Amino acid sequence: MITKLKVVPFRLEAAPKTDLPRVIGRSEATLHSTPQRWLQSSFGLLDIHTRQKWTLLRPLLGGLPRRGVRLLDAGCGTGRWALELASYRPQWQIVGVDMDEQSIAEARSRSQRLGLKNVTFELSSFLDFQPPERFDVLLSIASAHYLAREGKAQILFSRFAQWLIPGGTLLLYGPREPELIPALGWLPPLTNDWGFSRLHLLELCRSNGLETATEGAYGLFPVIGRTATVAKQIAIATDKNPIVRAAAYPVVLALGSVGLSAPRIEEPSSAWLLVARRSDA
Ligand SMILES: C[S@@+](CC[C@H](N)C(=O)[O-])C[C@H]1O[C@@H](n2cnc3c(N)ncnc32)[C@H](O)[C@@H]1O
Repeated sequence: MITKLKVVPFRLEAAPKTDLPRVIGRSEATLHSTPQRWLQSSFGLLDIHTRQKWTLLRPLLGGLPRRGVRLLDAGCGTGRWALELASYRPQWQIVGVDMDEQSIAEARSRSQRLGLKNVTFELSSFLDFQPPERFDVLLSIASAHYLAREGKAQILFSRFAQWLIPGGTLLLYGPREPELIPALGWLPPLTNDWGFSRLHLLELCRSNGLETATEGAYGLFPVIGRTATVAKQIAIATDKNPIVRAAAYPVVLALGSVGLSAPRIEEPSSAWLLVARRSDA
């Protein structure tokens, strides 16, 4: 366990160098047969939504110490993030938790087939999860808004804080309130019909001892700006037809990386990146 975690400031334009791969999914490529194995080991996962999230989180994850980190992937699904990180950071201890039985079974099977020894998966809802040891880093990728939408954000954030060591870091990616999403009206909307407002997230942090303004490395950042949102919409619009999807993919890929992090807090965007630190008190 790390006693003092140093987190790099979130600045995508000037992200520090990291050996974490530019795309997520390469480590799992061997689980597939060709041609997917070849495609995935060369280009990573093609899904634009996953690629965008990884691009945003990679500098932060890559800036963490290479050894000794205990990381919880809260809402790990089939283990995509936990497995990738476990492969590239053999000196980390990673736990994935999710309430979906099938996803956890799949995550465990993938981990076993990859021969990973530093990752485990727990089947539990966030509200019942009581880890025996706390974590240096808590990762919540598109997993917090489900309970929040049911009015249970306060209890969820109190759990998040409990699961972290004092000084530990919460890295959360979640949807923004639909009114502020810069989507084009003539393209299909994004799939989320609920999102966090800035004030709601800041208040959830404040009331649970999670600091968002320490040493300049922490904060709440609007991410997935206008162009990157349109890329998502095109991906959704073309998803049903494989030929149209393949034809549109270069456009999706090109637009998908433009304006990923919005420069100003009031700028419209479709998601939030929250980097918070559990206070030492
Ligand atoms: C959109 S998926 C994201 C999966 C993964 N983080 C990723 O980005 O690939 C959201 C996941 O959160 C899990 N989840 C949502 N609410 C949960 C809860 N209350 N307790 C445990 N898991 C939850 C879901 O089962 C689902 O696997």
